[in-house]
Amino acid sequence: MDAATNSETPQDTLYEEIKSFFDSAPPLKDGPGISKKLNEFIERNSQSTGGEGTGRVVCVTSGGTTVPLEKRCVRYIDNFSSGHRGAASTEYFLKAGYSVIFLYRRGSCQPFCRSLPEDPLLECFEVSKELNIQVHQSHSEAVKRAIGEHCGAVEGGLLLKLPFTTIFEYLQILQLIAMSMRNLQTRAMFYLAAAASDFYVPWKSMVEHKIQSASGPLDMQLVQVPKTLSVLRNDWAPMAFFISFKLETDSNILLQKADMALKKYKMHVVVANELSTRKEKVVVVTSSEKISVLRDSTEADADIENPLIKLLVEKHSSYVEDSNS
Ligand code: PMT
Repeated sequence: MDAATNSETPQDTLYEEIKSFFDSAPPLKDGPGISKKLNEFIERNSQSTGGEGTGRVVCVTSGGTTVPLEKRCVRYIDNFSSGHRGAASTEYFLKAGYSVIFLYRRGSCQPFCRSLPEDPLLECFEVSKELNIQVHQSHSEAVKRAIGEHCGAVEGGLLLKLPFTTIFEYLQILQLIAMSMRNLQTRAMFYLAAAASDFYVPWKSMVEHKIQSASGPLDMQLVQVPKTLSVLRNDWAPMAFFISFKLETDSNILLQKADMALKKYKMHVVVANELSTRKEKVVVVTSSEKISVLRDSTEADADIENPLIKLLVEKHSSYVEDSNS
């Protein structure tokens, strides 16, 4: 959705809107538990021991946020995102030596699971005559690799996965992550691939029970979600390296909108992508250049995230070096 349209919101009004959003949001389940996990993760991974990527932590957001219409939610508005971009990018960041906080929509695509069949449990396993469960021969390599890589990252303490569903949970957890990453200074990176809702129903004006269709057409006013990207960039983690995304369906306005987002939110990089070609081509937009990144079409299994993350890691390295000199 469009994060660059509310260009005239004065700073004080924005802070009030954000305060009102957080004050009225339903309390996060286990906020202290999430903070504890985050602090331990950062503590463990912030020690720089040499080599590119070490001591660097990236927060990858992935999937779409929902906006509930009822407190006991039966209906909700959703934002499009399969989570493929975030999941694939997480794998390449781990390969590049980063530790990753993966803030993802429940049920969306997960790192290391992309090569598994659509319905992994039912298709991957079989029950033997002795009632032992074993991996089906045809999937055995893919499953072994996925389990091995996933366990390696999670048990090795390099990957922390935090789920969200609603826009309330997403922004509350994003704030906790930003606060916990502050001390990393320039070694922190935000890679914001999630598709965040632009409009929501404030919790205090939301009905408790399922909206009844017998009452006729639904007339409901949604409030604009405050542009938290500015406070994230300026206040919550001011030294971090920021990458946001711009998604459009009209290629004629894509680069112009990416430029606007870059300036308005003082992003270091905006990755511009068009919905129908997002897996083949993206444009990395910075204040000085626009670089097209293409998927290697000569290889069937190649991901566009491979060259994309390589380029972004280089940009982050230059940012860290420039800040040190
Ligand atoms: O998941 P896939 O199916 O693989 O598709 C990937 C993708 C198309 C979803 C991804 O590449 C992409 O473009 N994500 C951003 C889509 C979008 O609609 O962004 P937005 O307009 O909601 O927000 C713009 C940017 O600000 C995004 O980087 C977003 O994560 C960030 N944002 C926005 C609002 C907010 N409150 N917090 C944010 O972090």
